[in-house]
Amino acid sequence: MSSIRNDSAARCLRIPAFVFAIAILCAPAAHAQGVQRSTAHIAYDSTTRIFRLDAADTTCVFGINEHQEIQSLYWGARLPDSDRFAAAHSRPGLASFDPPVDTTPQEYVAWGGGLYVEPDLKITFPDGNRDLVLQYVSHRINGNGLSIVMKDISLDVYVELQYAIDPETGIIRRSAQIENRTSGPFTIEQAFAATWNLPRGNDYRLRYLTGRWAAEDTVQQQRIEPGKIVLESRRGTTGAQNNPWFAVDRDGNSDPEHGSVWFGALGWSGSWEIALEQNQVQQVRISGGFNSFDFGYLLAPGQSLETPYFYAGYTDQGIGGASRLLHRFEIDFILPHAPHPALRPVLYNSWEATGFDVNEAGQMQLAEKAASIGVERFVMDDGWFGERNTDHAGLGDWFVNPQKFPRGLGPLIDKVHSLGMSFGLWVEPEMVNPDSELYRKHPDWVLNFPGRPRSEERNQLVLNLARPDVRAWVLSTLDQLLSDDKIDFLKWDYNRNWSEPGWPQVPPGQEKNVYVDFIRNYYGILQELRAKHPNVEIESCSGGGGRVDLGVMRYTDEVWPSDNTDAYDRLHIQNGFTYAYTPGVMMAWVTDSPTWVNNRTLSLQYRFLSSMQGSLGVGANLNKWTPEDFATAKRMIEQYKSIRETVQRGLLYRLIEPANGSEQSATEYVSRDGKQTVVFAFLHSSTELYPYPRLFLRGLEPNAQYRLSAMDGKVSGDTPAEASGAWWMHHGIDLDLIGDFQAAALTLERSTGDR
Ligand code: DGJ
Repeated sequence: MSSIRNDSAARCLRIPAFVFAIAILCAPAAHAQGVQRSTAHIAYDSTTRIFRLDAADTTCVFGINEHQEIQSLYWGARLPDSDRFAAAHSRPGLASFDPPVDTTPQEYVAWGGGLYVEPDLKITFPDGNRDLVLQYVSHRINGNGLSIVMKDISLDVYVELQYAIDPETGIIRRSAQIENRTSGPFTIEQAFAATWNLPRGNDYRLRYLTGRWAAEDTVQQQRIEPGKIVLESRRGTTGAQNNPWFAVDRDGNSDPEHGSVWFGALGWSGSWEIALEQNQVQQVRISGGFNSFDFGYLLAPGQSLETPYFYAGYTDQGIGGASRLLHRFEIDFILPHAPHPALRPVLYNSWEATGFDVNEAGQMQLAEKAASIGVERFVMDDGWFGERNTDHAGLGDWFVNPQKFPRGLGPLIDKVHSLGMSFGLWVEPEMVNPDSELYRKHPDWVLNFPGRPRSEERNQLVLNLARPDVRAWVLSTLDQLLSDDKIDFLKWDYNRNWSEPGWPQVPPGQEKNVYVDFIRNYYGILQELRAKHPNVEIESCSGGGGRVDLGVMRYTDEVWPSDNTDAYDRLHIQNGFTYAYTPGVMMAWVTDSPTWVNNRTLSLQYRFLSSMQGSLGVGANLNKWTPEDFATAKRMIEQYKSIRETVQRGLLYRLIEPANGSEQSATEYVSRDGKQTVVFAFLHSSTELYPYPRLFLRGLEPNAQYRLSAMDGKVSGDTPAEASGAWWMHHGIDLDLIGDFQAAALTLERSTGDR
């Protein structure tokens, strides 16, 4: 599905309407993992003026009604081709208080003509007019993409609605491009990508992710009642308070593997908003895009503004199925090298071992020890540059500290490479400490309102990346860094959110463009760096998981979900993370015990098994390890390499969730070819002689045979060494897990039966 990744595809406006068009898309025949690709169909029926999108298990239908509005008609389970929809007719209003524009579900609606539900678009014009009424003009079907042009009833404001559907998952990507063809500038005060309308009803439940530093990705749920729920970030970047993801199902469905789920995620790393409302006629609408708080994008004549992408899908396979579709979509279409993103190497990171106290000899010593246990990438974290001895100074001065590295980084990098590992380096390019050469030279480069305080967090200020000169400086500085030394990987950090988001160098009416231009420049830098240094990989980090979203994932190979590396806490954080994001990008380090987070003591084996559920890393101080620790680590890293592809690319089933006070949790990963299955099981605490719950596996072939081995821990004595998929799914497996903070891992290799 190439066009879903192609930003510039189908960007033209004023496209003549097709009289009758049916596009049948056959995506490339061979799938990345050898699975045959599915097809997607986009059709327009000129008699009824209805658009129909079909792919995988999903059908989405909307039509042009008598007011030339694009009216949503259906989004849900795949319908037979033989089912026909009648032409769209707007719904009647309710008395004199709720006009049809409110009671008619629309794909994209501007604020005008008495709209009381959440608008997708709101504009203030120079003459004071704020009324905007969009009507259908034309459309074009292009492979698996559809674009619909709308225009205001009198003003030359054009909006192109973009749709692209993924044949494999049925996930639809939507965005809108707003174009100013009037003779003067206007201010866009709200710009969403799309509205998704669910089948009308009042029995929906919302799942969403909340968090904060060191406690990201907690799964929350609540009924969708009449009124509005807003998920958002007003922080300038994605933030951890909410993550831009949602899933909605029928309230009361507790089955994680069955039942309708509508889910979606925004691809935007700036201030974002997803509004879910149940309106006056029990219509549930989900709309989202740029956060409308403090928004005000000045659009000059001839210019256009494109909203973020809003991705959404449907499954009847419950919340588990929704996660698996998203994981697959991310691997096959979002990540930089999709559909063949490289498996994550086992990484070592120095941060928890050395803090800012890095130097050539110390890092070389750690590198030797890391290599001895099978680590594949060595990353030097914060502290290597400028006067960076604490977090009070140095950010912005991206030159090697001569006291710590008198010979530059070259000797360390050569050493790391000679040990057979790639080399990674920490940077935080959008930030500056006031105590730095950069700030002394360019105090005007930070976000600020003149004459007002410049609030520091972690002793740092945010560079205004929206400024062309700041953008150019960040790009050339990083380009230079990557050109000077053989760096294979950047950990790109971002350790505070915005305050005083002023941009005094532009006219006042244009200042708020910072919310968009900053993030576009951030993406632009990532894109250009990747193009210039195609072998360099990048991790997105924001003091943990503060910048994880489908926007940044298009430019980065992995993400850091949380600074909380306590292996027990991580079970919860990782569980929430995988609701929206693939374990293939979820970095998870094994760190020291007792942990700095909770002073909790956990065995090395437990810590490894917790981290092996994602992309494994080690962040412990290896100088403190015993020979037994090294032996355990070496064995477990070797084991991880034998299951890595299954964990990072496979199908995830949550057998027992670490939620609602559960004393246990268990996850299962089935490789895409179905040949390997891996099970991880954790016990928080045994009570009153109760045995560990029996694990009933999922996603196996009932008639195939699977050979079981215990990677770590023990199964009960009467467990067969080999049995059918039906046996493992219906009879289940008993584990001998007893005590506090115990863990086990099993593998099943399929010995017979083809998928
Ligand atoms: C926050 C990150 O999340 C940590 O892993 C570490 O890189 C520190 N910043 C360094 O300052």
